[in-house]
Amino acid sequence: MQVYRKVGEIREFTSKARGEGKTVGLVPTMGYFHEGHLNLMREAKKKCDVVVVSLFVNPLQFGPKEDLGVYPRDFDRDCAMAMSVGVDAVFAPGNDDMYPKGYNSFVEITGITDKLCGLSRPGHFRGVTTVVAKLFNIIRPNQAFFGQKDAQQALVIEKMVRDLNMDLEIVTLPIVREADGLAMSSRNVYLNEEQRQAAPVLYRSLCAFRDAVAKGERSVPKLRLGIEEMILSTPGAEIDYVEILSVPDLEPLDTINCKCIAALAVRFGKTRLIDNMVVEV
Ligand code: PAJ
Repeated sequence: MQVYRKVGEIREFTSKARGEGKTVGLVPTMGYFHEGHLNLMREAKKKCDVVVVSLFVNPLQFGPKEDLGVYPRDFDRDCAMAMSVGVDAVFAPGNDDMYPKGYNSFVEITGITDKLCGLSRPGHFRGVTTVVAKLFNIIRPNQAFFGQKDAQQALVIEKMVRDLNMDLEIVTLPIVREADGLAMSSRNVYLNEEQRQAAPVLYRSLCAFRDAVAKGERSVPKLRLGIEEMILSTPGAEIDYVEILSVPDLEPLDTINCKCIAALAVRFGKTRLIDNMVVEV
């Protein structure tokens, strides 16, 4: 497995692969890998001849009061894990490689970024779409792989690709969970023991939502209240948002009458966790 730090180096690597008629898959990440990341890499490996994983904690997508400075990092462990699933190259640029002095260009998708995490984290999606557009231009993958864990992010990227006529396919893969249902996240390491025990309530509340829809409940206010009550009955859980919206446009609904997503963000102390469940009627 190759490790590249410079834009020119990874460009040369992927250009060569394409020149040999190989397809290139990209898995964009911020590192500190877990099974959720590894699953994306394995799927990429199944679908593409050459797999590149980018590892860059993108300062542009963190707010001034967020966890950029303490975001967990372990580069050597990440490289060993990526290598173990057959990744061909890791691209791990420095901040100055991605945003050199005088950097002034940004990619902004409007509309679906105005809700959910876009409201709680102003500027977040502008940071995500800017870095992902740069990675697409640098690596020029045939396919790029994202997780349903960050459902809004995946929809925003798909919209960007459509709106800006980017020539690649976005593949979104299901949420990978711990045995007790907690969605895997690099941020789970911030949870203390008590918070870690409480956190699976997010998944339980989403399963209860899914089951209620399956039994015929269609009222969005009622379903939303059900999720909120379950979460609030857990000590230490503080709701940032619980929303039930249409997919893929993320429009508000009164009644479940199409494909829709229940998405939530909940704080346990300083740690903000997100999760979601899609249902179709
Ligand atoms: P990061 O949080 O490292 O996540 C990288 C990819 O892994 C994302 O597509 C995310 O949705 C996926 N992922 C994380 N946890 C998952 C889980 N439990 N199950 C399935 N997929 C999971 O998301 C980012 O980085 C950044 O915003 C990035 C796209 C790299 C841009 O900086």
